[in-house]
Amino acid sequence: MSKLDNTSLKLPKENPEAEDFLPLLGTDHVELYVGNAKQAAYYYMAAWGFQPLAYAGLETGLKDKVSYVVQQDKIRLVLTSPLKPGGEINKHIESHGDGVKVIALGVDDASKSHHETTKRGAENYFEPKSVEDKNGKVVLSGIHTYGETVHVFVERKNYNGVFMPGYRAWNPFYKAPNVGLKYIDHMVGNVGWNEMNKWCEFYAKVMGFAQLVSFDDKDISTEYTALMSKVMSNGNGRIKFPINEPADGRKKSQIEEYIEFYNGAGVQHMALATDNIIETVTALRNRGIEFLTVPASYYEDVLDRVGEIDEDLAPLKELGILIDRDDEGYLLQIFTKPILDRPTMFIEIIQRKGAKSFGKGNFKALFEAIEREQESRGTL
Ligand code: FE2
Repeated sequence: MSKLDNTSLKLPKENPEAEDFLPLLGTDHVELYVGNAKQAAYYYMAAWGFQPLAYAGLETGLKDKVSYVVQQDKIRLVLTSPLKPGGEINKHIESHGDGVKVIALGVDDASKSHHETTKRGAENYFEPKSVEDKNGKVVLSGIHTYGETVHVFVERKNYNGVFMPGYRAWNPFYKAPNVGLKYIDHMVGNVGWNEMNKWCEFYAKVMGFAQLVSFDDKDISTEYTALMSKVMSNGNGRIKFPINEPADGRKKSQIEEYIEFYNGAGVQHMALATDNIIETVTALRNRGIEFLTVPASYYEDVLDRVGEIDEDLAPLKELGILIDRDDEGYLLQIFTKPILDRPTMFIEIIQRKGAKSFGKGNFKALFEAIEREQESRGTL
């Protein structure tokens, strides 16, 4: 595996290596299967500043499941729970706890997307189907990816309803102010031992993605634990999927802990972009979101490492926001503690100021912070 040094790394805005038999418009939505969608929707609204958008359930003719759709700028989350025992959603929740089932990608042609990916070896999740209501038509198709996670292709160019046929607008009295989250910067998958290359090849071969960058266990290790990571991206750079696998260390890798509690491969974190990380993180912290912290010593020499930045260091230090730089600029980032009872998924907040990389300079401080959390859970 080629090891790229962050300082010499030029990450193109567009990824010219990627093939475009699968043009992607962006992340259409992310669907989580959860134990209690009504309360999860309230959490994402009250704590994360999402706005209510759409609803489907008994009142719209569904018999066995319910979905709430919430939105903040370009980020749409669908929270789905089963209403009856048995079935695929219950099985997913029993196995994984709450977690991401669907990473839905916007396309111009969902039928062609399905055809192009399945002919290159993707496993069919569902064949192209058209759903319609008075607001028009949406075409959907789906393929499997790592673990029990799937990609759904969404073609909505002939639809002007609030979300999708089958859903009605959801407009409850309660609306929390947003926290300035803009779009999904990247979504990270954790896969098992020695499976990273297999899944990177899947994204290359089946979806035409190219590798942006790779980190090996020398980049991402502490005294105790290690992991390896490669970042796959589509042609226009809108979709970035880092894939992690555990690596040998003296103690248990955070990826192993994830795999154990998620009971397999799955989405480890979503990175959500903001234009003002200080305001966003201040609001999130005030609403109860807990972030990983690094020792105060991190800030003693951080500016020697990253050079001048526009922000005052004091609020960054107060909030625990990390800083890193590459050839093209710098970035600010911070990671929540797991947002579920199982130590599985967490959320990253990222503000890019030119940098196109992923915070390699912060890996060590970050993973030591994760180890302290693992230690407290008895899973290190
Ligand atoms: Fe990330």
